Amino acid sequence: ARKVSIVLIGDGAVGKSAMALRFLRDQFNDEYDPTIEDSYCKHVEVDGQEYTLEITDTAGQEEYRGQWNENFMKAADGFICIYSIESLSSFKELVGMRDQIWQTKESQNVPMIVAANKCDLESAREVTVEAGKAFAAESHAFFAETSAKTGFNIQEMVVELVRAVAKN
Ligand code: GTP
Ligand code: MG
Repeated sequence: ARKVSIVLIGDGAVGKSAMALRFLRDQFNDEYDPTIEDSYCKHVEVDGQEYTLEITDTAGQEEYRGQWNENFMKAADGFICIYSIESLSSFKELVGMRDQIWQTKESQNVPMIVAANKCDLESAREVTVEAGKAFAAESHAFFAETSAKTGFNIQEMVVELVRAVAKN
């Protein structure tokens, strides 16, 4: 199986760990426990090809971000850049994070998904779908509205990223 290294990036509490838990174990937890750094492995089959996904779940909270090391970013094949639709500030934060990815990779040709998470919280929406799509387009990334809570688009998003890595 081909190894594919994926990094989850985004502001604190946007749902990176919840996405990982949904993807890996099809579970959801309502409690918030800030991450320092975790990594997981999962075997998947996409388009008839086997992959071993190495998923790195990073710290979004400012106080833990110091632990971010450039090495995992450099080694990563693809990124899932996550904001929460109910947090405009998490959306704004993503611009700088994406720029940091581009800088570290010394390229703007980086397989990437922009994930607009917590789309189950429609009544609290602060970021329009159009704004999310525009940011994804300027980031040369796929766009998906997701919900780690309901599972909406979580598997699909990972499959799209694996395809983008396979083509890259
Ligand atoms: P850091 O590790 O601090 O960077 O945060 P994180 O991005 O990993 O956030 P986490 O996954 O811990 O989720 C933060 C809170 O949001 C938790 O209480 C989750 O249950 C909740 N949450 C995550 N995803 C969703 C979602 O899709 N919908 C809803 N309603 N809540 C969510
Ligand atoms: Mg986390």
